Amino acid sequence: KTIHLICAARPNFMKIAPLYHALKNEPWCVPEIVHTGQHYDYQMSQSFFDDFGLPSANHYLGGGSGTHAEQTAQTMIAYEKLCLEKSRPDLVVVVGDVNATLACSIAAKKIHLPVAHLEAGLRSFDRTMPEEINRVVTDSISDCFWTTSEDADENLKKEGINPEHIYLVGNIMIDTYCMMKEKIEKSDAYKTFGLKKKEYIILTLHRPVNVDVKETLESILNTVEQIDLPIIFPVHPRTRKNLDVIHPLPQNITLCEPLGYVDFMSLVSNSSSVISDSGGIQEETTYLGIPCFTMRNTTERPITVTMGSNQLVSVDNLLEKIKHPQTGSIPPLWDGKAAGRIKQVLKSAL
Ligand code: UD1
Repeated sequence: KTIHLICAARPNFMKIAPLYHALKNEPWCVPEIVHTGQHYDYQMSQSFFDDFGLPSANHYLGGGSGTHAEQTAQTMIAYEKLCLEKSRPDLVVVVGDVNATLACSIAAKKIHLPVAHLEAGLRSFDRTMPEEINRVVTDSISDCFWTTSEDADENLKKEGINPEHIYLVGNIMIDTYCMMKEKIEKSDAYKTFGLKKKEYIILTLHRPVNVDVKETLESILNTVEQIDLPIIFPVHPRTRKNLDVIHPLPQNITLCEPLGYVDFMSLVSNSSSVISDSGGIQEETTYLGIPCFTMRNTTERPITVTMGSNQLVSVDNLLEKIKHPQTGSIPPLWDGKAAGRIKQVLKSAL
């Protein structure tokens, strides 16, 4: 049985890698990696294939960037063509909440292919976020739902999903962390930045709401300037455009290119805390017990706040909140064994 593992953008690669490795030697299935091409820079894509020991994608759709409609439409067209003309899979696995998640699930369902959604059921309840639309639409047409936490199961049930199709498998990003742990612990990336353990902060920003308007980005930077610690800021391509026109940048901020997985996770592990608007980093910091200050009004990952080390912040309260970091504990089934659970589900279903 052929299984397409769809990936497109940076946060997808750490979700498909453990699943690919769990399935690659099974006699009953052939996992094929489909890269839609949404992220194409080396640091945003290939560096993760290298880090995780993934082979080149079996199928590269060359989607690239564009408006939401352009990106989604191009990916739908290219993916439908692939399935109709080259490789018709028995199952399509989509992950997370990027535009390709939506595009490939729609294209697949219209030609009657079953779709499984990995990281299903997460909801921020903020429909101005493009990712929320992608999550809601993908879940409304998927056949099988693999979730990271109980709250996601509840969201799906409230939306009318048959509970028999929901599987609480845990958090596959933690599988990736466990798989890479030895290398992460050996890396001393913080030293190359001239930093001391637990005496610096990592900053990442790429949400449209925070970075697309220069004044908003500037006010975030003016706020973090008042923190009395060095700050390392790996800059996402989306953020670069507006950052380039802000002068001068705060003294305590060091910019760098987007980092590879090992160096980034090593920097996070040794940091005193993280300020970010990422989805995945909320989960990784919760697992590591590193305080995370999420620069957003809502989160689709509420368990990182109720149980983990994450707090939602704004420019108005960041300086106050950062005085009261949270460490929390690790949610159930975030144990590095999610891919194994998914494999069992697949083995009995296919
Ligand atoms: C996408 C996802 C977001 C995820 C993020 C992680 C959607 C709707 N959004 O947002 O959920 O958190 O990825 O990074 O799918 N660019 C480059 N090089 C690249 C990739 C992008 O220069 O390798 C540029 C694009 O040309 C574009 C900008 O960065 O101008 C934004 O890229 P895009 O793919 O539209 O969305 P992200 O903001 O990365």
